[in-house]
Amino acid sequence: MTKTVTREANGCLDDVRSFLDDLHAAWPGPPLTLRNVGLAVPLLAILWTYWQLPALRVENGSVDHCDPLRTYGEITVRGMHTISRIAPRGGVFLDIGSGHGSFVLWAAQEGFNESRGVEVVQERHEKALRSAKAGTATTFRLGDVLNHLDLLNNTDLVFWNNLCFSDETSQQVTEAFVQRAAPGARMVTLAELEASGISKLTMRRGEVPVEMDWREEGYLPYVYMRRASQASER
Ligand SMILES: C[S@@+](CC[C@H](N)C(=O)[O-])C[C@H]1O[C@@H](n2cnc3c(N)ncnc32)[C@H](O)[C@@H]1O
Repeated sequence: MTKTVTREANGCLDDVRSFLDDLHAAWPGPPLTLRNVGLAVPLLAILWTYWQLPALRVENGSVDHCDPLRTYGEITVRGMHTISRIAPRGGVFLDIGSGHGSFVLWAAQEGFNESRGVEVVQERHEKALRSAKAGTATTFRLGDVLNHLDLLNNTDLVFWNNLCFSDETSQQVTEAFVQRAAPGARMVTLAELEASGISKLTMRRGEVPVEMDWREEGYLPYVYMRRASQASER
């Protein structure tokens, strides 16, 4: 996630500089003294940290503490291997919030029959499309996952870096997974889902942390399994 932060840092610095210039020009009170400026520095440092370090804010898994679109980071190839060992290869793979499409493309080449991704940021989606190789069974959709829940149909393995999604999205995706995924399918998430009342879903913690490009020590994933269908169950 630090990559995007660095790239966006200059633009934000310019914004802060121009804001300070405007403030100085419009200042109605006594002249800005060194002491006043000195007091402003810690305040600016706090604001700077808040806006420029979403990677730190995202760690608690709450959308209140991160921006779902500005916050970006990728799973590493080592992390992909870790996840692919959770379910047998073959079948249908889905990455929710697929970014530049690396995991979708990797899964298509590593034994999954079909590999899907959905990404809401157009630029990232287009990059994924450019990287897709002809002849591989990949599907990339542009849009909010809530408008593409059919992508969960018959999935066998779903990866969801859900550290920065709203509760409402979490709830709807979880329900769609229960209703649409193949019996025995796994959904691997980085933050826990509210799934306690769903009898068709079991959860266990993964045994191996999933490495991310912003966090080498990785995240111990949550592994949800959709149990086989029983008519009376939700
Ligand atoms: C942390 S990145 C993960 C990228 C990719 N899964 C990977 O690990 O390499 C999360 C992605 O989810 C996307 N995203 C956020 N909210 C979304 C939504 N409601 N629907 C689809 N994608 C979303 C973001 O734009 C971002 O690209």
